[in-house]
Amino acid sequence: MTTSTVAYLLTQELKHSEIEVKGWVRTFRANRFIALNDGSCLENIQCVVDFESMNEVVLKRITTGAAVHIKGGLVDSQGKGQSVEVQVSSIEILGDADPEEVSKTILQPKRHSLEFLREQAHLRTRTNTFSAVMRLRSSLSFAIHSYFNKNGFYYMHAPIVTGSDAEGAGEMFRVTTLDAKNPPLDENGAVDYSKDFFGKETNLTVSGQLEAETYAMALGKVYTFGPTFRAENSNTSRHLAEFWMIEPEVAFMDLVGNMDLAEDFMKYIISYVLEHNKEDLAFLEQRLEQEDKSKPQNERAPMPLTEKLRFIVENNFKRVSYTEAIEILRSSKPNKKKKFKYIIDKWGADLQSEHERFLVEQHFKCPVILFDYPAKIKAFYMRLNEDGKTVRAMDILFPGIGEIVGGSQREERLDVLREKMAELDIPEEDLWWYLDLRKYGTAVHSGFGLGFERLVMFATGMGNIRDVIPYPRTPLNADF
Ligand code: 4AD
Ligand code: MG
Repeated sequence: MTTSTVAYLLTQELKHSEIEVKGWVRTFRANRFIALNDGSCLENIQCVVDFESMNEVVLKRITTGAAVHIKGGLVDSQGKGQSVEVQVSSIEILGDADPEEVSKTILQPKRHSLEFLREQAHLRTRTNTFSAVMRLRSSLSFAIHSYFNKNGFYYMHAPIVTGSDAEGAGEMFRVTTLDAKNPPLDENGAVDYSKDFFGKETNLTVSGQLEAETYAMALGKVYTFGPTFRAENSNTSRHLAEFWMIEPEVAFMDLVGNMDLAEDFMKYIISYVLEHNKEDLAFLEQRLEQEDKSKPQNERAPMPLTEKLRFIVENNFKRVSYTEAIEILRSSKPNKKKKFKYIIDKWGADLQSEHERFLVEQHFKCPVILFDYPAKIKAFYMRLNEDGKTVRAMDILFPGIGEIVGGSQREERLDVLREKMAELDIPEEDLWWYLDLRKYGTAVHSGFGLGFERLVMFATGMGNIRDVIPYPRTPLNADF
């Protein structure tokens, strides 16, 4: 006989058959009812033990957290709350869990704060909340690959170690094998990176975009989906030092095509989980409602989780230029009453999360695509508009999240790109290969980056980005 998953058993119509199942004991009640979970779904399967005929030593070892191998008959449940249960004929303890030790952990079956769960991130996936979040994370990532595969994109692996700073923000983690206490120095007394492992300064990538562009200009439609790293010291609920990014890049596509692609893509992946993760979403929706009860009215979610997801799928994203957005913000109530931390007074101001959320949550009340930003506040590679001061950039703003996608049409004109790089002191030697793309069959092309964890936050309703990635890396924290 082969072992079945709990998810499979719970869907079985055929009762009274002999089955085997392995999992972890969530609770053991009245010396009789084991709630068994194996991670295959949210629900536990109830396994009923006949304690009178059971070896007492084994019985004592059935404790919360223990790993067990159960054989028995699948039967219609006698009790309420489940359709089937297992009438246990034999139970083998695969791994004990000492109750004394368990009582100090989050395995103990009671409500724990998300902060406490974070301290035991190696165990938290055994809770309902985290198993649901992580199943959704997996499902979303499958949906992403599925979307691109269906639409003729090639999956491309951008390097993790690079010599360039794609975003030009200087927020990089250095990669080196030099001895920090005694590095080799050049004649000017500066660290001599020519003696380093790669013979030059290298860092962890902040984005795979520049490399993806080179591939789009050969394969047509590509995307990356990999880890990216940012050494920005922002300790917020929306920033990680290590996060996963999805970056499609398409040859011969302009900014309007880019917005169409991003909208279609976001709708597809959200519909996918609405269809395939109903049980986990229903649980997370309930969790959120529970959590909201302890919050003031104005901080509560405006609609239940699944309704919010359906809203994204069913409504057009509102497309608004940066210039229009600035006008709206300038004459908005929180700006006039100085409720914003950063007051918007003139064109050119960088938008903060508070402004983005005002536009999405208060003003438009739907996802917003902002486009044509001032060149000065955006990266060097974005295509300059005819006005000479805005670039073909777009950001997608989602309720509760703010910026979830950032993208642009790329500057395909060699002379304009060169001028821009000179202006920003970006050495041509570092990006000679990127400039080459503009010499040999250059063409209009565009792409965007979706922050995967921000997507998982949105889809699960979790409020802190540390709770949607297995082992979050943030300033002063790289545990596990
Ligand atoms: O807007 P960003 O910086 O854009 C790029 O990196 C471009 N190269 C993308 C492209 O055009 N191919 O980052 C893209 C997205 C953001 O919208 C946000 O969702 C996410 O990545 N992101 C972060 N997520 C978590 N933690 C951080 N520190 C993040 N920084 C950006
Ligand atoms: Mg951005």
